[in-house]
Amino acid sequence: MNRTRVLTGITTTGTPHLGNYAGAIRPAIAASRREDVDAFFFMADYHALIKSDDPTRIARSRLEIAASWLACGLDPERVTFYRQSDIPEIPELSWLLTCVTAKGLLNRAHAYKAAVDKNVESGEDADAGVNAGLYMYPVLMAADILAFDAHKVPVGRDQIQHLEMARDIAQRFNHIYGRDFFVLPEVQIEEQVATLPGLDGRKMSKSYDNTIPLFAGGSKALREAVMRIVTDSRAPGEPKDPDDSSLFVLYRAFAGEAETASFRSALEAGLAWGEAKQALFGLLEGQIAPMRERYEALIAQPAHIEEILHEGARKARAIATPKLAILREAIGLGSHAPVAGAGMARPRADKPPRLASFRDDDGRFRFRLFAGDGEELLLSRAFDDPKAAGAAQKRLKQLGAAAAVVQLKPTALLLELDGEAVGSTPDYADEQARDQALERLRETLDQLAGAA
Ligand code: TRP
Repeated sequence: MNRTRVLTGITTTGTPHLGNYAGAIRPAIAASRREDVDAFFFMADYHALIKSDDPTRIARSRLEIAASWLACGLDPERVTFYRQSDIPEIPELSWLLTCVTAKGLLNRAHAYKAAVDKNVESGEDADAGVNAGLYMYPVLMAADILAFDAHKVPVGRDQIQHLEMARDIAQRFNHIYGRDFFVLPEVQIEEQVATLPGLDGRKMSKSYDNTIPLFAGGSKALREAVMRIVTDSRAPGEPKDPDDSSLFVLYRAFAGEAETASFRSALEAGLAWGEAKQALFGLLEGQIAPMRERYEALIAQPAHIEEILHEGARKARAIATPKLAILREAIGLGSHAPVAGAGMARPRADKPPRLASFRDDDGRFRFRLFAGDGEELLLSRAFDDPKAAGAAQKRLKQLGAAAAVVQLKPTALLLELDGEAVGSTPDYADEQARDQALERLRETLDQLAGAA
């Protein structure tokens, strides 16, 4: 199946509240369970440094957020879940992208412009208090996305400009170096996702100080927050207007249709606000308590979380490492030809590489890739449709090594095109032989694309 690679970054500042859960965590985890989605979720902890220089806070928030997502049901076997700062290829790519990014593009970024406008308004120097991290934020975010050839990036509306910039930067790099190195990511705005009202009826947000905590403070803090939700002054027995009540909106975000309908009728029939709050608390606690229990168990075992994140970083780097190797090579920062004595250079074949199609025993369509000297480098997967097999070959020829994301298996390689596995190499004797084969495969693909 053609899986869509969906990638998103989670900012690691603060502790998740109910609004984060309903608006981001819950829908993202639900989407990650779809068969046609290859989900990448990561904690944007390098980005967090722009806003905070307090090591304890940075460390604490990262841990709490990892534990929260896991407790809410994120399955790290299924999703590639990692920390940005565990992937050295991200800052590395960020620099490569920095060098093709117009400074003027960054001058126009909303967050930077807002800071400048504020300074100018108050008569300060335009760049007062602005660190270069804030300025470079869009480039680092582009690197987050482009290092993994993500197709879709689910984010809030405030991030649309960042996605446009990521596409701009990718196109500029592709243009300068003459090949489609990067998939152009598409923004995905979740229109129907709930933005929850906070205690005072405005959007639930840390900056309004009106949040209901998800796990922090336990069931007691949850109850206390629910009891502080602002309601109108209608007395018990007086009919209430559910559509004018944030309490009802919160209830609806967590209840099924039938439950919501009966809560609506109860309010219209005059249910007291105090009882309504009890009902909301009961509903929330019923869903949150089991997750909170997992959360507390996880937080108590940071070493276990660490292990999960290391495994996530390993999976992520299996994609980013070969990707960066291709990019380095393309821009002139590849490794030089082996120095005499440091390994045997293979004699270069004079003949061009070739692709050979055939039908396998099941009548399905496959192809092989041979190097110029006849060595078989790749066997494609079986295609039901000969046209699809043809299209994959055509795509390989177009892209060369640039877009062929090679995933490293212990002693074999998997080739992906546009997020879909298209073929694999023979199983090699050891990792060293595999790495040599990787070089060979890249060279051959580039020859095939006529780029070498
Ligand atoms: N800027 C995003 C936010 O504030 C977080 C983020 C960082 C991100 N890197 C990303 C989101 C890459 C999507 C993809 O929400």
